[in-house]
Amino acid sequence: MTQAIDRLISAGQTFTGLKCKECGEAYELGAKHVCEDVCFGPLEVVYDYDEIRRRVTRETIQAGPNSIWRYRHFLPVASEQPIDVGTGMTPLVQANRLARRLGLKRLFIKNDAVNMPTLSFKDRVVSVALTRARELGFSTVSCASTGNLANSTAAIAAHAGLDCCVFIPADLEAGKVLGTLIYAPTVMAVHGNYDQVNRLCSEVANTHGWGFVNINLRPYYSEGSKTLGYEVAEQLGWQLPDHIVAPLASGSLFTKIHKGFQEFVKVGLVEDKAVRFSGAQAEGCSPIAQAFREGRDFISPVKPNTIAKSIAIGNPADGVYALEIARKTNGNIESVTDAEVIAGIKLLAETEGIFTETAGGTTVAVLQKLVEAGKIDPEETTVVYITGNGLKTQEAVNGYIGEPLTIEPKLESFERALERAQTLGRLEWQQVLV
Ligand SMILES: Cc1ncc(COP(=O)(O)O)c(C=O)c1O
Ligand SMILES: [Zn+2]
Repeated sequence: MTQAIDRLISAGQTFTGLKCKECGEAYELGAKHVCEDVCFGPLEVVYDYDEIRRRVTRETIQAGPNSIWRYRHFLPVASEQPIDVGTGMTPLVQANRLARRLGLKRLFIKNDAVNMPTLSFKDRVVSVALTRARELGFSTVSCASTGNLANSTAAIAAHAGLDCCVFIPADLEAGKVLGTLIYAPTVMAVHGNYDQVNRLCSEVANTHGWGFVNINLRPYYSEGSKTLGYEVAEQLGWQLPDHIVAPLASGSLFTKIHKGFQEFVKVGLVEDKAVRFSGAQAEGCSPIAQAFREGRDFISPVKPNTIAKSIAIGNPADGVYALEIARKTNGNIESVTDAEVIAGIKLLAETEGIFTETAGGTTVAVLQKLVEAGKIDPEETTVVYITGNGLKTQEAVNGYIGEPLTIEPKLESFERALERAQTLGRLEWQQVLV
């Protein structure tokens, strides 16, 4: 084994194997995600951090591409030419108006609503997973998705020339379905919820020899989310924030932001700091928030019923790890109602000009709830992760955002409509003038 690892490192590879997160059993770098020899725990990629430290400095990262691949030595791919469709390096925006509204001093939004190519953070995990799928010799890639992952997998597979078959619950939003079909993959719309789709896909993965990005390629795929940690640290001027708030579905994203921060500390790119991790769920699917509230260290699966479909996972694979991180960092996991999700979407749009989907509405609403409960200190530098785009979930806000004023192409018609709007208070002149 040691000789094999030495060979990998001399070939420029900084990842050396897979390891069970529970019992530590070692596995070869194949398409495998559970510890099938011992305990059925999840497998994780192992890195040689001494080697990463030798290769990587702030300067080498800054000289790299303007995408997630500037961090390629922290990612489990061997190719010199990974699939780079411009994924990552999304804006970190200082959100002064939202901060003022909530009573915070230093609030930032990591805006993956404008990630490339499909406007969600899933482009990060899929860019990594499909690069690795290609290295492992897969010609067909697949996924079990709540919507965004299907968009990403289909788009990036099209770019890479890989065959693609994605599985989604049949009741997804029109924008998510159209945003997958356009790339011409095979789309299986399953009568069932995400957890049922996922179970079906585990069976298909065993029989068809496809690369399922979030099943047999999951150890590689999930590492892509670490870039949401690296980018924030770099964009804050090589510093960690005090507090982060992120949405939770399977819990993977949350745990990988944590891992990303820790790795940057480990290799000396940033100074160590106690970062608090808070997670957001929608009440209609909040198994992790419930466990947090009740002080449990296990997750009781639930049947999802919420408009926040992208994060509606009733049996979250990484739920216990997310719980552990929230607890040990002195963070929180909260849930909000669907009405609060809609209010969260509107609040972010009206204060910051960012139109997010339901997952983002959930996160903003939880941010607000935590501030109101005194669980976020106004002095903390807080980063909120906005992970998806509102144009994909228009159904959620339809009927809650007013109507345009329809007028004739005549000045008097405009004047009349304007007067009516002002008396109805539709235009907030005070605010415009300030
Ligand atoms: C927009 C959006 N945000 C957050 C998540 C949560 O991801 P995870 O399963 O890694 O917790 C998802 C998952 O599908 C998503 O689509
Ligand atoms: Zn194990």
